[in-house]
Amino acid sequence: MSKPLVLQTEELDASAAAWLGERCDLVACRVEEPRFAELLARAEGLVVRTYTRVDAALLAGGPRLRVVGRAGVGLDNIDLAACAARGVRVVSTPDANSQAVAEFALALIVDAARPRLMLDRALDAKEWGRLRKELRAPRQLSEMTLGVLGLGRIGARVARMGVGIGMDVVYHDIREIPVDQRMGASSVSLAELCARADVLTVHVDPREANRRLVNTPFLAMCKPTVVLVNTSRGLILDDLALAGFLRRNPKAQALLDVHDPEPFGPDYPLLGLPNAHLSPHIAAATATAQENMSWVVRDVWRVLDGKEPEFPAAQR
Ligand code: MLT
Repeated sequence: MSKPLVLQTEELDASAAAWLGERCDLVACRVEEPRFAELLARAEGLVVRTYTRVDAALLAGGPRLRVVGRAGVGLDNIDLAACAARGVRVVSTPDANSQAVAEFALALIVDAARPRLMLDRALDAKEWGRLRKELRAPRQLSEMTLGVLGLGRIGARVARMGVGIGMDVVYHDIREIPVDQRMGASSVSLAELCARADVLTVHVDPREANRRLVNTPFLAMCKPTVVLVNTSRGLILDDLALAGFLRRNPKAQALLDVHDPEPFGPDYPLLGLPNAHLSPHIAAATATAQENMSWVVRDVWRVLDGKEPEFPAAQR
C-alpha cells in the first residue's frame, strides 16, 4: 500500500520529520514554490508553522487533505471553520512552548526594570561613577505590580514567576480560574488590571474577539509609566493607538515580540520610538520548544492512521 503524501511547508525538527517520514511520504515544499499546487492536490496531510495561511482558498486546492498539523500554539493562521467544513482535522501542540515564552516574557520584564550596559572598554573613575548613577533602577520588581492579561498556560507561568520574584500579581481572564490554579495571583476586572499594573503582560489567544483589545480606551486606563509586554500576537494591539500612547507617555515602555503583520514594514507605527522595543517573534525560539512543536507530527500520523488525535484544535 502506498504511503499518504504529507506536505511540510515550514521548518520542522529533523527527528520529528524523520519519524513522520518513516510513516508517510513527507515532502518539504514552501507554498511559494511552483510545484506546491500539484503536490497539494495529492496531499492527505499538511504540516505548517506560523506563516502558512491555511484558508478556504488553500483548502480548495487540497481535495484529499485529511489533516492539518500546526507545529505550535497559535491557530490564527488556520481557518478552523473552513477546515471543519471540509472535514479536515486540525491538530496542534498547545503546551509545546509555554515555558519558553514565559521565560522570554520574564527576560523582557527584567530588562525593562534593570537597565544595564555591558562594558567593552576600560573606563576612568569619573565615567564609571556616572554610569553607576545613570543605570540606577527607580524601583525593584518586588515593589511593582504585575498584571497578567489571560491566565492560560503561558500567563499562569509568568504569574508564578512574578510571585516568585516577590511582585504583587493580579490577572484578568474571561474564564473563572479555580483558586488552586491562580498561582498566587488575584483576579481583578480589566479596568483594575490596567489601573494597577506597573508591568502588564499580554497572554490572551488571537481569537477574533481579542483583535485590537489593547486599544485607545484600554491604554487610557493604564499608568503613564506602564511596561507593556506582548508575546501573544500582534493583532491584539492597535499599533497606532499604542504609538500615540508611547509618544504622550515617554516613561511608558512597550516590549513587543509579535507584530501585525510579520515581518513589519518600514511604515510600522512603532518603529523608531525610543520606548518601543521590538523583537522578531522569538519568544518560542528555544531548541526544546522548537522540538516540542515539531512533534505535532504524532497527531498528524494518528489522524492519517484512523486514530483520534491527542490535541485536536478546538473551534472558538
Ligand atoms: C506559536 O504560536 O506557537 C508560536 O508563535 C510559534 C512560533 O514561534 O513559531
